[in-house]
Amino acid sequence: MNETKHAVAIDGPSGAGKSSIARAVAARFGYIYVDTGAIYRTVGLAVRRAEQDPHDADAVAALLPGLDIRFDYGPDGSQRMYLNGEDVSGLIRTPEMSMYASAVSAIPAVRAFLLDMQRRTAREHRAVMDGRDIGTVVLPDAGLKIFLTASLEARAKRRLLELNAKGDPSTFDEVLADMRKRDEQDSSRAAAPLKAAEDAVVVDTSDMTLDESVEHICALLRERFGPEATA
Ligand code: DC
Repeated sequence: MNETKHAVAIDGPSGAGKSSIARAVAARFGYIYVDTGAIYRTVGLAVRRAEQDPHDADAVAALLPGLDIRFDYGPDGSQRMYLNGEDVSGLIRTPEMSMYASAVSAIPAVRAFLLDMQRRTAREHRAVMDGRDIGTVVLPDAGLKIFLTASLEARAKRRLLELNAKGDPSTFDEVLADMRKRDEQDSSRAAAPLKAAEDAVVVDTSDMTLDESVEHICALLRERFGPEATA
């Protein structure tokens, strides 16, 4: 495959359910699921370890040539991230790394550094890829683009449950404040800001369960790709 017409791009703010929904849709149709936020988080971790300011574009850009970032899939299909050979999949899932990822993702050199990896993956596999700029920048030819959104409160509630389930003691107010700040940062940056592609289907999941959201998007996929979608 040398093109990305078969790809599904899912963009939207944090907590809209992108990763759970994209993972389930990908599994249903035998696509791979690519969580691009995890890639930005891995850059964030590298910057944190180098004790650099994630807002300092020059300092961050200087680190990039020394970074070997890769991903693969575990036996359960989960995406594993490697930083210079080390599996950092667990380490990148903290509120601190969310903030680092959001900060470094505003730096154009970081986005350029990661662009190729993302495009190559979508050319080599049938992929459901989620992020912030997949439909607008990374895969403008994706055959189906979804902009997944939900109210700030609904998103904060979901993220709180996820964090608490992992033993993270964050409170609702903290999660809400973090999310508001990230929304603001991700939407107002100059480089590839979070916004719906003109040809994206906007799906608001505030009042949908996970299953309903998955069914809705599977239906869109079947409608768009017809017999090519095998599930
Ligand atoms: O989806 P996530 O919360 O894991 O993403 C972490 C941060 O990375 C998010 O605040 C914005 C950034 N990001 C991005 O700029 N572009 C992407 N395609 C994916 C994530």
